Amino acid sequence: MPDVVRVSRTLPWREAARESDALRPMLVDQFRHEDFRGMRVLDVGTGEGRLAFLAASVGAKVTGVDLDRVKLMQARAYAGVRDVRDAEFVVGDVEKTPYHEFVPGPIDAVISNLCMSQEIVFHASRALRPGGKFIFAAHHGDHWKETRRGSRWAFYEDTMRGLLEENRFSIDFMGVDTTVARFEQLREVELFLRDRTVQRWVEDGRWQELSDSFSRGETHLTLSYLIVKARRTAAPYTLR
Ligand SMILES: C[S@@+](CC[C@H](N)C(=O)[O-])C[C@H]1O[C@@H](n2cnc3c(N)ncnc32)[C@H](O)[C@@H]1O
Repeated sequence: MPDVVRVSRTLPWREAARESDALRPMLVDQFRHEDFRGMRVLDVGTGEGRLAFLAASVGAKVTGVDLDRVKLMQARAYAGVRDVRDAEFVVGDVEKTPYHEFVPGPIDAVISNLCMSQEIVFHASRALRPGGKFIFAAHHGDHWKETRRGSRWAFYEDTMRGLLEENRFSIDFMGVDTTVARFEQLREVELFLRDRTVQRWVEDGRWQELSDSFSRGETHLTLSYLIVKARRTAAPYTLR
């Protein structure tokens, strides 16, 4: 297992906001270092398809899957406008459905940006051919740590390493990309986050935790991502 690569920066919130929605450069780098030409790729939790479009732009034939029909319509519209022929989008639950129902035949890579769970690792492992790649960004356990509850979809390095190994993956790259956004006042966090997130945090108590942290003079918010490239080993699953 290679050493974990760590990138960390502290930025004034307006600067952090400019890049907070972008795909993490550390994730994009994993695509630069792979030859995707002709590969059959599944993008799980594709949303409006931006990772799928990245894979298609480097030669992959991609199927993007999501539960959200509106986002998928946007992805299809974008594919139509840009004349992207190697990306298709289907509705499905990537935590419950075997991936061969989305892509018949061998799958060369499963990719994901910010849609990750134990179930997804399980299904990716069973769908990928030996040597097939699993490339993703997930929330890291430190993501939004000032709210005490962080993100439901977050993983620390060790947990993810164990999960991947249990599911017959060998890890080629693991990185943690962290940005600490600095604020002067709590009001600025409302401008930094989307309304929907603020509302959710008010309802579930995370806003209060953040407010307490600001009262103690800790006027920052951590955004942290775990980026992984792993390979399906040839080890078969045995019936117990
Ligand atoms: C944070 S968004 C990321 C979207 C996209 N990957 C991107 O980078 O823009 C997470 C996406 O995962 C989708 N999602 C969550 N759980 C899912 C599931 N069980 N099956 C399919 N899609 C799911 C959501 O609908 C949402 O579009």
